[in-house]
Amino acid sequence: MIDVLSIASEAYPLIKTGGLADVVGALPAALAPHGVSMRVLLPGYPKVMARMGGGREVAGWSDFFGGPARLIAGRVDGPDVIVLEAGHLYDRPGNPYVTAEGVDWPDNWQRFAALAFAGYELARGVVEGYQPQVLHCHDWQAGLVPAYVRYNAPVPVRTVLTVHNIAFQGRYSWDIFNALRLDHRAAADGAIEYFGGIGYLKAGLQCADAITTVSPTYAHEIRTVAYGMGLEGLLQARAEVVHGILNGIDAEAWDPGRDPALAQNFTASTIVDRAGNKRAVEQRFGLEAGDGPIFAVVSRLTWQKGLDMLVPLCDELVARGGRLVVLGSGDAEIENGLRGAAMRHPGRVGVVVGYDEALSHLIQGGADVMVMPSRFEPCGLTQLYGLRYGCVPLVSRVGGLADTVIDANEVAVEAGVATGIVFSPATEEAFGEGIRRAIALFHRPKVWHKMQRRGMKSDVSWELSAEKYADLYASLLGLKRDDDTDD
Ligand code: ADP
Ligand code: GLC
Repeated sequence: MIDVLSIASEAYPLIKTGGLADVVGALPAALAPHGVSMRVLLPGYPKVMARMGGGREVAGWSDFFGGPARLIAGRVDGPDVIVLEAGHLYDRPGNPYVTAEGVDWPDNWQRFAALAFAGYELARGVVEGYQPQVLHCHDWQAGLVPAYVRYNAPVPVRTVLTVHNIAFQGRYSWDIFNALRLDHRAAADGAIEYFGGIGYLKAGLQCADAITTVSPTYAHEIRTVAYGMGLEGLLQARAEVVHGILNGIDAEAWDPGRDPALAQNFTASTIVDRAGNKRAVEQRFGLEAGDGPIFAVVSRLTWQKGLDMLVPLCDELVARGGRLVVLGSGDAEIENGLRGAAMRHPGRVGVVVGYDEALSHLIQGGADVMVMPSRFEPCGLTQLYGLRYGCVPLVSRVGGLADTVIDANEVAVEAGVATGIVFSPATEEAFGEGIRRAIALFHRPKVWHKMQRRGMKSDVSWELSAEKYADLYASLLGLKRDDDTDD
């Protein structure tokens, strides 16, 4: 068994704002059959603490980044977790990163330095009988971990940093350096310096033993100026330790055959039963019945996701017989634009602003087209859920979207391998053309049903990728895995 501590700011089902949580929550079970024992270290947000009732204290400090803190270990709905309880840092309303008004918590630098330092302390053996061999750090919130490991007192551990989204980097001014408890050599070496300040993600990318990101295409993209967001040079320099490992999905939480959030369960061979979910979606969003496809959005409403481009296309989508349902929240301008479309087209466009896990499942099971016109997309899980639920993805050709959806061009349709509609570049014009193609394909029922069934049979599991992570940990530790027999 390889002992891995996964360090992240979110993990489903304890706390989730996006796909990061799904991935961190799913990895422990996905990796267990591959000889990896994984625990997850999380901040003690109120939602997390509320579920830690049966946990036990395994370490404590009287002054941990400005106040007392404890590590609580427990098993909550699946993964083994260790929670950093530190009321002065995490016991507050709002979401993990921002206040109720949507402004970044001003002490985020301290909240996530503390999380990273707790990971380092665990590697130092602060909990008796527990010695992780690998620290698997996720995104900028855990970016300082590899810097602590490299520059503070030596610890017998290797580090992996996974980039889920390079747009979020954790950039702060130099003033915080002394409070980070990081050896001064980290400053002298330039390891954490980023455009004159301190960069948490930069530090992780510089110091980690291995870097992964969540799809092969994104692993290439982030080495380019167009997608690297300032970190492309560093990633080019470290190219030999950068790996693209595609995300999978939790096939139990997302199984249309058993999903309790659906009005009607179905499989690839009983796909006609999706109709019951389509009616439930119509009801829930106040849509009139119709012959055209229901397009759906389940997403953060942000520039990354390209949904500003959907706003001006709504009228045409409706004019061509389509309907649209939206579940999401984010930029006020996009929210208002979509609400405006719903007011102009009652019965054709429905918008729910908010976050609703159960409704997201129902939409996947009942809508016809899952829309993701992302400008960049490290992996994307929503299109994977769409594939599994027969909700045909309409996506831009970037990142993980390019790696997981097979475009319905005539050759692919003829060969029966198409699983969605892929357009490029990520512009309003190409997106509009994608919508027109989706509507035309929907009106060829044989082709459409074949695409749905093909999508439902795509391998979106963790199987292959879990093995890649296990191999990576083993290679960092200089181990040969037992089941490495075929290559
Ligand atoms: P990202 O992590 O960039 O937001 P992903 O596609 O990887 O994008 O993952 C998004 C996850 O968040 C999916 O599980 C999706 O179902 C979920 N999600 C996004 N918005 C909502 C919402 N408003 N309500 C419920 N679930 C949502
Ligand atoms: C990020 C990315 C998304 C990815 C998710 C999980 O939120 O935006 O593309 O699927 O992380 O890795």
